[in-house]
Amino acid sequence: MQRLPIVLPLTQLPFSQACENNKAPILAVLTQAFSLNQHVLEIGSGTGQHAAFFAANLSHLIWQTSDQAEYIGGISARCEQEGGLFNAGANLALPLILDVTSPWPVEGLTPDIDGVFTANTLHIMSKNMVEALFTGLGLYLPRLKTLCIYGPFNYQGEFSSDSNRQFDAFLKQRDPASGIRDIEWICSLASEQGLTLEQDVAMPANNRLLHFVRG
Ligand SMILES: C[S@@+](CC[C@H](N)C(=O)[O-])C[C@H]1O[C@@H](n2cnc3c(N)ncnc32)[C@H](O)[C@@H]1O
Repeated sequence: MQRLPIVLPLTQLPFSQACENNKAPILAVLTQAFSLNQHVLEIGSGTGQHAAFFAANLSHLIWQTSDQAEYIGGISARCEQEGGLFNAGANLALPLILDVTSPWPVEGLTPDIDGVFTANTLHIMSKNMVEALFTGLGLYLPRLKTLCIYGPFNYQGEFSSDSNRQFDAFLKQRDPASGIRDIEWICSLASEQGLTLEQDVAMPANNRLLHFVRG
């Protein structure tokens, strides 16, 4: 059956100015971090802007988008409009519904996924959700060898800037279970899945890019 494209004007697609600002600096790190990978799963693709940009610029990869159900329509529309899914060789895959607290979709994930990227998700998720994300990496992705996480982080419970302290207060007012996570805790969860921190890269606006490797 022929698939018909979802046609939405680009101006009606979900949009994040932060994604536009940070996508080039993130790409600079991912270009090296994912240089030997083939199939990357993005968890929490959000607006799909990162996915469209990274897939276009990392043509050796298949970029598999995913998110909670309510985001799937917007990500699909962006994939179809910006990702050129109807062109031969397109490498941007339509989103899978993936909530880290539920069983992950098996089709499309195993056995090929060898890299995971997630941006601005761990401070939105509760601690239980963050733990579930890492447990899922071990349960569902046997070939995982690279994990890249972008976002704000604390060191030993200390904020790295006043703006991050204010952001954390804003997050907690909205959802007391959310908040900026300690790098040390993230490294310990990664270590339980056989992943060690290869690089902790300073990014604009007091964010970090954590690059983990396995094996
Ligand atoms: C602040 S948005 C970030 C979106 C995008 N990655 C970006 O950088 O703009 C947080 C994302 O985390 C996702 N998220 C929150 N809880 C989740 C869960 N339990 N499972 C999967 N994704 C989740 C949301 O659906 C959303 O896409």
